[in-house]
Amino acid sequence: MKQYLTSCQHFLHGADYNPDQWLQYPEVLEEDIQFMKKAHCNVMSVGIFSWSFLEPEEGLYSFTFLDQVIDRLTANGIYIVLATPSGARPRWLAEKYPEVLRVGADGHKQQYSMRHNHCFTSPVYREKVRNINRRIAERYKDQKNIILWHISNEYGGECHCELCQQAFRDWLRGKYCDDLCKLNEAWWTGFWSHTVTDWQQIHSPNQTGESNDVLPGLFLDWKEFVTYQTTSFMREEIAAVREFTPDIPVTTNFMGPYQHLDYNYMRNYVDVISWDCYPSWHSERGDVVEAQSTAFAHDLHRGFRHQPFLLMESTPSNTNWLEICKLKRPGMHKLSSIQAIAHGSDSVQYFQWRKGRGGMEKFHGAVIDHNGKAEGRVFEDVREVGILLEKIDEIAGSHTNAQVAVVYDYRNRWAIEDAAGFQNLDKKYKRTCINHYKEFWKRGVNVDVINLDNDLSSYEILVIPMLYSISEKQIGKIEAYVAAGGTVIATYITGYVNETDLCYRGGFPGGALKDVFGLTADEIDSLNPSDRNAVSFQGRQYEVVDYCELITPVTAQPLAFYCEDFYKGKAAVLRNQYKQGKAYYIGCRDSGEFLDAFYDDVIKDSAIRHYELPYGVTIHTRESEEYEYLFVENYTTKSVEVHIEEAVRDLENNEELSGNTNVTIEGYGVRIFARLLRQGI
Ligand code: GLA
Ligand code: ZN
Repeated sequence: MKQYLTSCQHFLHGADYNPDQWLQYPEVLEEDIQFMKKAHCNVMSVGIFSWSFLEPEEGLYSFTFLDQVIDRLTANGIYIVLATPSGARPRWLAEKYPEVLRVGADGHKQQYSMRHNHCFTSPVYREKVRNINRRIAERYKDQKNIILWHISNEYGGECHCELCQQAFRDWLRGKYCDDLCKLNEAWWTGFWSHTVTDWQQIHSPNQTGESNDVLPGLFLDWKEFVTYQTTSFMREEIAAVREFTPDIPVTTNFMGPYQHLDYNYMRNYVDVISWDCYPSWHSERGDVVEAQSTAFAHDLHRGFRHQPFLLMESTPSNTNWLEICKLKRPGMHKLSSIQAIAHGSDSVQYFQWRKGRGGMEKFHGAVIDHNGKAEGRVFEDVREVGILLEKIDEIAGSHTNAQVAVVYDYRNRWAIEDAAGFQNLDKKYKRTCINHYKEFWKRGVNVDVINLDNDLSSYEILVIPMLYSISEKQIGKIEAYVAAGGTVIATYITGYVNETDLCYRGGFPGGALKDVFGLTADEIDSLNPSDRNAVSFQGRQYEVVDYCELITPVTAQPLAFYCEDFYKGKAAVLRNQYKQGKAYYIGCRDSGEFLDAFYDDVIKDSAIRHYELPYGVTIHTRESEEYEYLFVENYTTKSVEVHIEEAVRDLENNEELSGNTNVTIEGYGVRIFARLLRQGI
């Protein structure tokens, strides 16, 4: 459903626009509108931090500036993404109602400061936000150019005030059906005599009280509660605007694999997924690695609802909060913008339209720099993307077909990163997911990044890296998936604990996973940073780092064996035929080359279409009723040739290419092709 496109039907190209910072410079608005047209921008997100302009004193509303901005944008055919202003509160609100300010885990109340730091439980904050949201929605409900609500901004963080403590206890009572025995069992409170005998004894984890790792069950429930409470706050915001604008869809801008909220829960309450993407292009880790991580994050957002998402923020040049604020090299702006489109975005939007004169973001990349001109390298880069998006507009709303899913689970991340054991400095959960993902990226295979709440039946391959925490229900789902013919690939530290961090009885991996993988993972050896082991696989040795599980095969066939240490000769990688499907288990972490060889076999053994591509080059696709769109992206500085078998149309140059041709992709270049699937209807 491309619900948000019903009013515009086009790719969106635009930016966060803060004319509220420019009220003393009345000429700026008109100038900006001319510049927006020149940049081929068709949308602006407004009002994100405008509360103190809209309600300068409690109950005193002033819409003059926003009226004018909305009128002028509308008159000039520019769509509007209208924000609710709860991301930053006015001073008067914090002074008059200190309960809206957050209390840190150390018990200290914050002073009025920053943004995004309010209590999500506070009835006063909820009421004030409801009021301002209702006012805004009522005032602009008939504005035809408003296509989307931008609810708040980058929800995040947590509050430990008394109101939140009580809400946490109430939430726990609901979760554990008012039964403290259930809670004590789930949290394993017999450990160090921590039995809870009264709900009032419960307090959020913090430095001077119950810490995260003593009772991981408490920590996991607290994290789940924070997501729940943030979402309940968001839902109140949404309800307030829906009262007046039931037909305008809502989004909130997510932050990628951000580990403090479970977006897989929040996604259920918005109509459109959007996110803010700030890769570190040209950093020392290299653009190819950066491209793979960014692609993973795009696929995660597309996977939330299996529909196109919006790139709500990205920078046209540099990001001022990175350690080193590099400029995008020529070509990178177009390439990184089209990367988002290739992975399912229906927009390229920026933070920000115009650099403010002051404040901490005055050196953050923007379309209009301090010279106040619509010209120069960055502006031309933006304009080029605007023109290109118009040329490829037929792709807007098209879908992505992925036959592979990689599981990235926020709750598992909380659980595994918090678990005392294995390697305590950094278990590298996210990095491991990306390392598996990149094997598909390299071969031009579309991937959905999902959690296990999704329907798995359409995937040919399901990868579950380091899925340490898994519920019995999820185990059942994986069992059914493989039984019906799916291929699952798991790694070390999978299926150790349930959803409240209780170890599975009877050994690992838990429950039916032992049958699915046909083995038991008996022990795990953690390697020192300088230690190396190796596995032999198909006559070659591959280096192993960090983890070696000691595995006993039951029905599984070993594919690779350890080469060193007291477990030399034992199985390290295994394959099991389980009912109609296959289950692979990788018991060790390799330094890259083994995964390449392993996935080469697995992918060739499947019916999945894949390519042999030069290093740093990838292909991703989207599909409409009639066409398959191919995006060929080159993240290296060297020009490469890529072989295209089918006859295609180059959308940028409007040129037909016959099948079996080599196409050139310049360094940091991207080309977009359309392949006819079926004649139009
Ligand atoms: C976030 C925020 C924006 C801005 C940018 C800067 O994404 O949503 O308001 O601060 O970061 O990169
Ligand atoms: Zn609070």
